[in-house]
Amino acid sequence: MTDSRTYALVTGASSGIGAIYADRLAARGHDLILVARRRDRLEALAARLRQDHGRQVEIHAADLGDPEDLARIEALVSGRDDIGVLVNNAGLGAGAPSVSADRDAVATLIKINVLALTRLCLAATPRFAARDDGLIINIGSVIAVIPSATAAAYSGSKAYVLNFSRSLQSEFSKTNVKVQVVMPGPVRTEFFGDRPPPFPDELFMSPETVVDIAFQALDQGELVCWPTLHDLQAWTVFDDARRTLSKAVSQTAVPPARYGLPAPEAA
Ligand SMILES: NC(=O)c1ccc[n+]([C@@H]2O[C@H](COP(=O)([O-])OP(=O)(O)OC[C@H]3O[C@@H](n4cnc5c(N)ncnc54)[C@H](OP(=O)(O)O)[C@@H]3O)[C@@H](O)[C@H]2O)c1
Repeated sequence: MTDSRTYALVTGASSGIGAIYADRLAARGHDLILVARRRDRLEALAARLRQDHGRQVEIHAADLGDPEDLARIEALVSGRDDIGVLVNNAGLGAGAPSVSADRDAVATLIKINVLALTRLCLAATPRFAARDDGLIINIGSVIAVIPSATAAAYSGSKAYVLNFSRSLQSEFSKTNVKVQVVMPGPVRTEFFGDRPPPFPDELFMSPETVVDIAFQALDQGELVCWPTLHDLQAWTVFDDARRTLSKAVSQTAVPPARYGLPAPEAA
């Protein structure tokens, strides 16, 4: 775990998983920077965290889908040496088949789930690398490995979060900069809004359980955390298969025989 004297910046801290991250990070001794659009929610949470944990808590109301607001938060992350933890939690779904999808809603989803997360990571890593310390926690979802007929962009965005985070893990594998990606199943939050939840109630975890599992995983060195996965072998088998495929597709430029194309002439 990175130096607890540093600030932790949490996006999407106004509700659900992000609000619990803020609470648990304060309990671990971090001062906080809370980011989301709903200022009133951030103010109420900040007041409670100051009272319960005696930490410094700043709030920054920002719409991470708005380029100017995002640039403001990026500047904060890249400009302040006292930020040691970045939690990219803000995110949303946009569930509909592609034929009836609201394209603007899907574009907003990509702006928050993919673009904002990426830009904030890239704002953080130069400083983290320079001082060889820092922690990034990116919130993915099990839907990253569940291609979905009614949530294609959401599934794709979370597959991006998984692959992007794993690539950063690879970049910083020999350093003290840690990148954890957390892949929850259904969580009882405001995420589904007024829509009827698409899963039975017994499949929902509380946000407290998700975050407590993720910190436990982090403390035991699990940088890809699947809070609902009991048999960790399912993940290692999946990842081994990915490694086998990645090796198999990187060996040759000769067209596979099943396509019936002539082998290229030697250069
Ligand atoms: N709930 C689930 O079943 C589930 C499962 C797997 C993964 N996840 C992931 O967990 C993360 C947190 O979701 P949650 O379940 O805690 O849902 P939530 O209660 O709806 O929280 C989403 C947070 O994102 C913030 N946010 C949304 N749009 C934003 C924007 N344009 N700019 C800034 N902040 C924005 C919201 O704050 P404001 O509205 O105040 O801006 C809110 O704090 C997301 O990345 C989600 O994809 C959720």
